Amino acid sequence: MTKLWGGRFADEADERFARFNASFRFDRRLFEVDIRASLAYAEALCEAGVLSRDDAAAIERGLQTILDRGRREPAYLERGVQQGIEDVHSFVEAELVNLIGDAGRKLHTGRSRNDQVATDLRLYLRESIDEIQGLIKALQRALLDLAEAHQDVAMPGYTHLQRAQPVLWPHYLLAYFEMFARDRARLREIRARVNVMPLGSGALAGTNYPIDRQRLADRLGFEAISRNSLDAVSDRDFVIEFIAAAALIMVHLSRLAEDFIIFSTSEFGFIELSDRVATGSSLMPQKKNPDALELVRGKAGRVFGHHLAMLTVMKGLPLGYNKDLQEDKESLFDTIDTLTGCLSVMTVVLKNTRVRSERLIEAASRSDLYATELADYLVGKGMPFRQAHELVGRLVRYGLERGKRLDELSLEEYREFSPLFESDVYEALSLDAALARKDVPGGTAPARVAEALAAARRRL
Ligand code: ARG
Repeated sequence: MTKLWGGRFADEADERFARFNASFRFDRRLFEVDIRASLAYAEALCEAGVLSRDDAAAIERGLQTILDRGRREPAYLERGVQQGIEDVHSFVEAELVNLIGDAGRKLHTGRSRNDQVATDLRLYLRESIDEIQGLIKALQRALLDLAEAHQDVAMPGYTHLQRAQPVLWPHYLLAYFEMFARDRARLREIRARVNVMPLGSGALAGTNYPIDRQRLADRLGFEAISRNSLDAVSDRDFVIEFIAAAALIMVHLSRLAEDFIIFSTSEFGFIELSDRVATGSSLMPQKKNPDALELVRGKAGRVFGHHLAMLTVMKGLPLGYNKDLQEDKESLFDTIDTLTGCLSVMTVVLKNTRVRSERLIEAASRSDLYATELADYLVGKGMPFRQAHELVGRLVRYGLERGKRLDELSLEEYREFSPLFESDVYEALSLDAALARKDVPGGTAPARVAEALAAARRRL
């Protein structure tokens, strides 16, 4: 197969090296964006007077034919991989020359694969980000659906995975909604930095031909053009920051997965996963395993790995393009695949989760969750909080030693600890009162949560 750089070389590349060097088996993913960028570039060359109208038209027809064929016929690209074609850029150019002859040899005028691949990758990532935004939104919608379906259900909130205070189930889910809202904002910011066009930077120094870069950028939907050609061809910040954002999304998905794994155990029994998103055991007939969630949790590790891999690839590179940069693609593509897969599956899991409201409410009604309420009750009667905290601590211990819950202690027992206790103490131990008192913006009072839910819907 003809190479893009044969002239200087008298000898063929060693076959093992050629295979090692080739990226077509993975950068074939850039096929469509590569052709789109080339279509726009041919137009720019023509406008700059570098290509004749006829040549430009032939190139455009040729590229369109290659694009159609690539879309229709999967074996077309696969054959290129088998033939050992170096990369997607070589493939497209070779096919173009095959199709239209000499005019095809003019397309690469003033262009380098260095500005070409950076342009392709940015186009590809821009579209992937848009797709991911849609998937996060769908996940957020599923969270809201699950929240609204059980709007009045309370559950224990945890710190240190120990029962802490009661919260509403929708309040709990809205916490994840917020994480994913931040993720979407982060991706929006990153997209703006991705959407900058390197094309026209040549190999490193800029190009000899007077192409109108701004017009070219407009045509490709780029918001801006790069300001420095050396930076443009060697920068992969956009890959690294995207993977970092993806890693954070994976952290959020993984924490949600972990919660749901715990919640679905017999010990908790807060939720049940439907058969559609669980698996059985080959040995133990009773088992129903949360594999979907475990895979989401597990796959977070791959994305973290890609982030570190890319930082490491970049850190020692002398300025300018280096072949090390070819390593960006597998990390980026696998990040995109892993992330989109996990987002979709998590959404499916949420849609296939049965909430066991009665178990949640029962757990939220255990009186150990109300010790703080009791302290605040005393504060309401004039006792300084620190003192109230200490006193209730002793009450809890007293109850534990006698096997009595806080709501099972008599008023006489309460009054032995403090005369401030009166018969209304038992109201402090009620779930509804405890929730209603958390009446601050961001708090779990039912009215606040209802507002937050409605606001979350509007934000989508
Ligand atoms: N396949 C290469 C990559 O992914 C394309 C750029 C090659 N440039 C070069 N100067 N060899 O980075």
